[in-house]
Amino acid sequence: MGTIEERKLLVNEQATAEFAHSLSLQLRKGEIIYLNGKLGSGKTTFSRYLLQSLQVKERILSPTYGLVHSYELNNNQTLSYMHHFDLYRLADPEELEYLGIRDYFQPNAGVLIEWPEKGKGFLPAPTLELWLSHSNHSLPQQRDVLVRFHKD
Ligand SMILES: Nc1ncnc2c1ncn2[C@@H]1O[C@H](COP(=O)(O)OP(=O)(O)OP(=O)(O)O)[C@@H](O)[C@H]1O
Ligand SMILES: [Mg+2]
Repeated sequence: MGTIEERKLLVNEQATAEFAHSLSLQLRKGEIIYLNGKLGSGKTTFSRYLLQSLQVKERILSPTYGLVHSYELNNNQTLSYMHHFDLYRLADPEELEYLGIRDYFQPNAGVLIEWPEKGKGFLPAPTLELWLSHSNHSLPQQRDVLVRFHKD
């Protein structure tokens, strides 16, 4: 398995939107995206722009309380669904088994996972990983993103 690594500077939220749009055009079957980064680093914001780029019209809220929100994609050649998880409130990774986590991972679905470390041991390996960070605290709109594409 090969990995391609890329770093980008996202100077403001518009740059994050453009980055999400470019990734939305490259999604593969069964894409599993781990979104890493501290509170407020921009994981949900990135997810919202990605889903909007995939023509999701409904309001996209953080799935912190329900753990997962699922979106149907109507005009995508590769994926019929996108599932957005936020595992921040998961007390024990084993709870994912009771939630029927396996059912979400299908070739016609893409999955976004915030706080993947909270599900350690109960999640499939990512096909794409992002690390978002606030690189310069005097520039509150700026983020650094490290991207890793894993290829079979
Ligand atoms: N370049 C940027 N990219 C993304 N978000 C930005 C950027 N600049 C400012 N922001 C703001 O930073 C905040 C990021 O919050 P967001 O909820 O996306 O973080 P999060 O990583 O999902 O946090 P949590 O771990 O609590 O779920 C938003 O208010 C967003 O408007
Ligand atoms: Mg979030």
